[in-house]
Amino acid sequence: MGFMSSSVGRKVLMAVTGFFMLFFVLVHMLGNSSIFIGPAALNTYAEKLHSLGPLVWIFRGFMALMLLIHVWFGVTLTLENSAANPSKYAVSKKLKATFSSETMIWTGVLLLSFLVYHLLQFTLRITPDILPDAIAKRPGDVYKMVVTSFRITPISVVYLVAMFTLFLHLSHGIQSIFQTVGCSNDKTLPALTTIGKLLSVLFLVGYGAIPVLILAGILAR
Ligand code: HEM
Repeated sequence: MGFMSSSVGRKVLMAVTGFFMLFFVLVHMLGNSSIFIGPAALNTYAEKLHSLGPLVWIFRGFMALMLLIHVWFGVTLTLENSAANPSKYAVSKKLKATFSSETMIWTGVLLLSFLVYHLLQFTLRITPDILPDAIAKRPGDVYKMVVTSFRITPISVVYLVAMFTLFLHLSHGIQSIFQTVGCSNDKTLPALTTIGKLLSVLFLVGYGAIPVLILAGILAR
C-alpha cells in the first residue's frame, strides 16, 4: 500500500500540514500583537510585510497548498472512519474521546468558513465594513481598518466565536501532531497535551483581546 493511500501516511500529512499552519497562526498572532503598542507599530509591520513582494506570494502559495492538503485529508479520513463500522471501536474510543477531539471536522469546517470571510474582509477588502481609503491604498492604515471593523459588534462577535473554535481545534490538534509523528509516548503525552492546551489558550487570549479591547474603547482610532 502506498504512503498516500495508507491511513497512517495520510495522518502524517495532516500532522505536517497542521504544523505549518500552527506556525503561521503563531507568527500572525505575534505580528497582530503590535496593535497593542499602537497604530504606528501595526502599520509599520504591515508595510514591512507588503515590501517583501514576490516572497509574500511564494509564502501564500505554500500556505494555500498546506491548507488544501489538510482539508482534503481531514474530510476523506473522517468520511472513511464514519463509513467503517463505528460500534466496533465504541469502547476504546470512549476512553480517549474529548469534546475537542470528537468535533475536529466541525471546528475545522467552521474555521475554513471564517478564513474565507477573513480573507474577503482584510486581504481582498470587499466586505461592506471596509472604508474606501483602505480599498484605495495597500496596506494603508491597517490599524484604522481593523478598529473600524471591530467597532461593529456583530463582526467582533464573529471573531470571538472563531477564536473559540480555533481554541477547540488546536486543544486536540497540537497534541495530535506529536502523537502522529511519534514524538509522544505514555510518559511524555501528558506534558505534550499540556503544551497543546497552553498554546491554544495563548491564541484565544492573544487574538481574542483585539476585538474585546476595541469594543471596550481601549484600542480606538
Ligand atoms: C483578532 C484576530 C485577527 C486579526 C485582527 C487579523 C488581522 C489580519 C489582517 C489585518 C490581515 C491583512 C494583512 C494585510 O493585508 O496587510 C490578515 C490576513 C490574514 N489573516 Fe488574519 N487576523 C486575525 C486572526 C486570524 C486567524 C485566527 C487566522 C487563521 C486561522 C488568520 C489568517 C489570516 C490569513 C491566512 C491572512 C492572509 C495573509 C496574506 O495576506 O498573505 N487571521 N489578518
